[in-house]
Amino acid sequence: MAASLAVGLQRAGAKVGIMDADIYGPSVPHLFGVKGRPHIVEEKGPEGQIIQRMDPIEADGVKIMSIGFLVGPDEPVIVRGPILHRTIEQFLRQTAWGELDYLIIDLPPGTGDIALTLSQLLGLAGAVVVCTPQQLALIDAVKAINMFRKVKIPVLGLVENMTGEIFGRGGAKQKAAEMGVPFLGEVPINAKIRELGDAGRIRAAFDADSPALAPLQHVCEQAAMQIAKSLLETPKMPSLEIL
Ligand SMILES: Nc1ncnc2c1ncn2[C@@H]1O[C@H](COP(=O)(O)OP(=O)(O)OP(=O)(O)O)[C@@H](O)[C@H]1O
Ligand SMILES: [Mg+2]
Repeated sequence: MAASLAVGLQRAGAKVGIMDADIYGPSVPHLFGVKGRPHIVEEKGPEGQIIQRMDPIEADGVKIMSIGFLVGPDEPVIVRGPILHRTIEQFLRQTAWGELDYLIIDLPPGTGDIALTLSQLLGLAGAVVVCTPQQLALIDAVKAINMFRKVKIPVLGLVENMTGEIFGRGGAKQKAAEMGVPFLGEVPINAKIRELGDAGRIRAAFDADSPALAPLQHVCEQAAMQIAKSLLETPKMPSLEIL
């Protein structure tokens, strides 16, 4: 969903970056079908000092940075909490993002460790919570929403993914209403979407004949609207330059 959001916003004309903060299971490079190691670039700091940064790798017009670029595909990343914090911080500081309209950050499921770190480092416009329709997934979504509220990251809304026969339908919409958060839309479970993800062709989910086109576009529009609203209510300058 994070990758799709990045592609959708890029297609609409925005300058978009995506940071894969799922240290334990970085899947963003795979979805975009990219490999490789980021180039190191040297930039001049405010006092003339040389700062080394990593160029994100670009695919489909989206700038991508992932821990997946730095470790082998089958290597696990084994780090403890405090190091995790530093890793994320370094990632943010040392990536030469350039000028962006949106930086999408893909978080791992579960605990709030990384969300907490990010909330301390950046003025985030908000969080999009993604879940599947079944009760068990909704319990996690409720926890995620409460966690973001606790660390003062605005919740932009809830997305239901994999709607359909297997997991059901409508659970997320109902939960969003109960929790007073916007519902951003639903994306059906569909073999084509899975195939495109596996093949590293996530952009093709937006092709004219893709079953995901309309639902993804809807989610992207709703998310962009909520981001704009959030920034109007609480203006933020999430400038990476000052990090
Ligand atoms: N609507 C969909 N229909 C079919 N397959 C999907 C759909 N959405 C995602 N997938 C596939 O399901 C798998 C898991 O998706 P994804 O990696 O986005 O989940 P995730 O929530 O980020 O997982 P994790 O929580 O482990 O990080 C991928 O193979 C992806 O291509
Ligand atoms: Mg993931």
